[in-house]
Amino acid sequence: MKAFVKLVLTVVAGMSSLQTVAASLPATAVSPRVAEVIASRCALCHGPQGESASAIYPRLAAQHPDYLVKQLRDFRDGRRKGETMTDMAKDLHDEDITGLAAFFASRKAGGRQAGDVELAGVGKYIYHRGNTFSGVAACASCHGPNGLGTELLPRLAGQHPAYIEIQLKEFNKRARTNDNSIMHSIAAKLTELETKAVSVYIGGLQ
Ligand code: HEC
Ligand code: HEC
Repeated sequence: MKAFVKLVLTVVAGMSSLQTVAASLPATAVSPRVAEVIASRCALCHGPQGESASAIYPRLAAQHPDYLVKQLRDFRDGRRKGETMTDMAKDLHDEDITGLAAFFASRKAGGRQAGDVELAGVGKYIYHRGNTFSGVAACASCHGPNGLGTELLPRLAGQHPAYIEIQLKEFNKRARTNDNSIMHSIAAKLTELETKAVSVYIGGLQ
């Protein structure tokens, strides 16, 4: 066993949830400090493997690491406002953020359940074709046909519909305060039906 892993296991001895995190990691993936932060903080809302149980907490599993780093820094430095996350990120150093992002990005996204099929059908159209009548760009043109995103663009596939819907509304109101200009102009043109439908469709993408 590598000394590093031994160290992690020694540090976590006696703390079972932390051990679960550490034991499931590749040997070099995570520092004891990052494992501790995940187990004692992030796991409460985002799940120990980035699969949050509650629909208002975003899934982090398989999200792009650069996107995660950027969002965490933005929360910490006050560029993206969010009561809970500002508090969670305020004492994180850059190396903690890189470690947390690498960990969650390396987790596999779990299976997804399709939502309301007819509503998802409307969402599928919006996602792939946009709405040329009101000037909504197809989501797929940036986030990819399967919602997998790119290094610079978030993965949407399998995200909780409730979280997606909240974000679209926040972009619309400009309540999401970091880099929202592209998404603001898109969200502002979505109707209530389109917003709900596209969120349900995204939730079922694998
Ligand atoms: C008490 C619950 C809670 C805890 C604990 C928590 N988060 Fe969050 N997290 C949230 C909520 C709620 C949001 C959505 C914020 C918003 O929309 O403003 C969020 C959003 C995020 C995002 C943005 C995701 C995206 O797709 O844009 C990241 C990244 C994140 N959290 C990482 C973490 C990390 C890392 C930790 C541990 C240090 C953590 N969170 C702890 C509730 C929590
Ligand atoms: C022109 C490119 C572009 C198009 C088209 C686009 N997006 Fe985005 N989207 C972005 C960018 C860039 C971000 C990252 C914003 C940030 O970093 O704050 C983003 C972020 C998001 C987020 C936040 C994800 C998270 O994890 O918090 C959601 C939700 C989203 N887009 C949904 C959509 C939907 C739904 C559509 C189609 C109606 C769409 N986007 C079309 C560029 C685009």
